[in-house]
Amino acid sequence: MATIGVFDSGSGGLSVLREIRKILPRERYIYYSDNANCPYGEKSPGFIIERGRAITEELLARGADAIVVACNTATAAAIAALRAEYSIPFVGMEPAVKPAALGTKSGVIGVLATAGTLKGSKYLKTRGLYAGSVRVVEHVGQGFVELVESLELEGPHAESVVRASLQPLLDEGADIIVLGCTHYPFLLPVMRKIAPSGIRFIDPAPAVARRLEDVLATLGTLPGGGPSVELLASGPSDTLEKLFTTI
Ligand code: DGL
Repeated sequence: MATIGVFDSGSGGLSVLREIRKILPRERYIYYSDNANCPYGEKSPGFIIERGRAITEELLARGADAIVVACNTATAAAIAALRAEYSIPFVGMEPAVKPAALGTKSGVIGVLATAGTLKGSKYLKTRGLYAGSVRVVEHVGQGFVELVESLELEGPHAESVVRASLQPLLDEGADIIVLGCTHYPFLLPVMRKIAPSGIRFIDPAPAVARRLEDVLATLGTLPGGGPSVELLASGPSDTLEKLFTTI
């Protein structure tokens, strides 16, 4: 049985754990929410690397065989440093620009992510590969992480916060929206309410889950008897526990 550590700045990474458990239901999972330091979106890469190290140490002490960085911002800032320092495999988030670029009919794709992710070299490189054939428009999901951390997943206030960042992408003609932050899938019902019916949203979590499956196959760990999930948080754990019951 493999023990898989999963971490995020908060509860958003549960959207990734949900997809992982669909295809790997028998492993042992330890989920770490760094909610005492949430959001990561505007924090410096140095700070996020420090937090990544501390969380990795904690997960290793609890027996992790592999770690999923279930946070686009932390993947952008810290995964290269963590891979250089630790020998266990790290699986990170991929900005789903490619499937969006291949699927768009309008020729415009929208990306919603944090400021840190949009500035990251991995995202800029991926965008550069497709920016010639399609137009890529971006917006920070301003206030989205806070909505999810306060479990405000519907209602007029959530709708107006989400509309303020989503509408500009729709106005630019985007017909596919990439969810570039793991908190955002929890706001999909609100996004679908705001967007016209033909608009598609792409969540990269299923692809990340398949990547983890490949990594575990390489490690050669046998399927466990699970499922088992341990939830850890650097701050109060109420949101994490409540959101976990929905996945
Ligand atoms: N869930 C995160 C991400 O995927 C972090 C959001 C934040 O803390 O700002 O980017």
